Amino acid sequence: MRLKGKHIVLGITGSIAAYKAAYLLRGLVKEGAEVQVVMTPAAKEFITPVTMSALSGKPVASEFFTANDGTWHSHVDMGQWADLMVIAPATAATIGKMAHAVCDNLLITTYLSMKSPVMVAPAMDLDMFRHPANQKNIEILRSYGNMIVEPREGELASGLIGKGRMEEPDVIIEEIVKFFDRKKKLLNKHFLVTAGPTFERIDPVRFIGNHSSGKMGYAIAESLADSGALVTLVSGPVTVKTNHPNISVVKVMSADEMYRQCVVAFPGTDGAVMCAAVADFTPENTANQKIKRGADDLVIRLKPTPDIAAELGKMKTDKQVLVGFALETQDELENALRKMKKKNLDFIVLNSLNDPGAGFGVDTNKITIIDRNNIQQNFELKSKSEVAADIVDKILEVIAGK
Ligand code: CTP
Repeated sequence: MRLKGKHIVLGITGSIAAYKAAYLLRGLVKEGAEVQVVMTPAAKEFITPVTMSALSGKPVASEFFTANDGTWHSHVDMGQWADLMVIAPATAATIGKMAHAVCDNLLITTYLSMKSPVMVAPAMDLDMFRHPANQKNIEILRSYGNMIVEPREGELASGLIGKGRMEEPDVIIEEIVKFFDRKKKLLNKHFLVTAGPTFERIDPVRFIGNHSSGKMGYAIAESLADSGALVTLVSGPVTVKTNHPNISVVKVMSADEMYRQCVVAFPGTDGAVMCAAVADFTPENTANQKIKRGADDLVIRLKPTPDIAAELGKMKTDKQVLVGFALETQDELENALRKMKKKNLDFIVLNSLNDPGAGFGVDTNKITIIDRNNIQQNFELKSKSEVAADIVDKILEVIAGK
């Protein structure tokens, strides 16, 4: 009973693989999960709601209202009740609607209302699966942090052979169990994460800033929180948001404010991930009034900001983990190694602005992790949430060795 007490919303869409959802449902119930099934109208052409309600022990939700008594099937309630939503099988049409918020059935509204993570198991013909439109939609779902259970190569309902067969129910169940295990790995741990840029005030309307969007730092905070940790996220000015219950966000503006929040929070934590693009210099004086244009050149004298990571490196105890980032444009490895040692980090995450798809603003990143034993791990280009999960795995490895 590895899923005892877990609440799972199982979404089923109109694919021939819908019959496998019955095996999936039976397996989830056997593992102790409580399952609420949501079916699209097309799914009911492939498998009956009677089968699914008999296996789950609950009425299937499919329409917004029950016609005869007007009962409202609340997608909002399901979104709050679930610990996980699993959509299996997910057709190309459903994946497209999920990616673009086309709410023409209860399953899509439930997806958009979902407070918990979502796992998607696509099922379709090979040409549909590899079509760029479908691949793009899958990428969009990944960028939202949804987990994709890749389909298998094999014989398809069309008789063709290729990639598109929904993964087998027992494998999907193992993925679900792994997901819940991961949630427990950092239970009772507390982490500090910095994210975003800092803005250094020149006068009441102007500042020195940078292009950091905060997306990577927020993804790391969410991944730590998904693993059960409590996270203090000290964030510079960004538009990205999180409403994860385990994350408390402390908004700051300047490097100095970020420094002050971090030195207070760090001693109570099990570690910190320094993801912010902190300004290295700040104006020596901030003008109280807007600086007026004059005939002469304007000279703004800058002074160095505190190096937050280096300061935490000095405070760090043997049990704490400290992780830094290096965004480099040249001599990447040497610079990253130098920073790791100088700031007393346990490992450093290197991303190069020379890699397309990596760096500021985008939803993807390509990283290399370098640790104190000089072990280098190169990762593929991935969504920032998948990169965050790789970084959290490395944190778990470092903690285990302490
Ligand atoms: N960092 C920090 N405080 C600063 C500057 C950087 O905490 N004032 C952290 C960043 O969050 C990152 C790491 O230190 O984790 C490396 O940042 P980077 O700007 O690449 O390094 P610098 O020390 O500024 O070195 P350089 O200017 O030589 O690139």
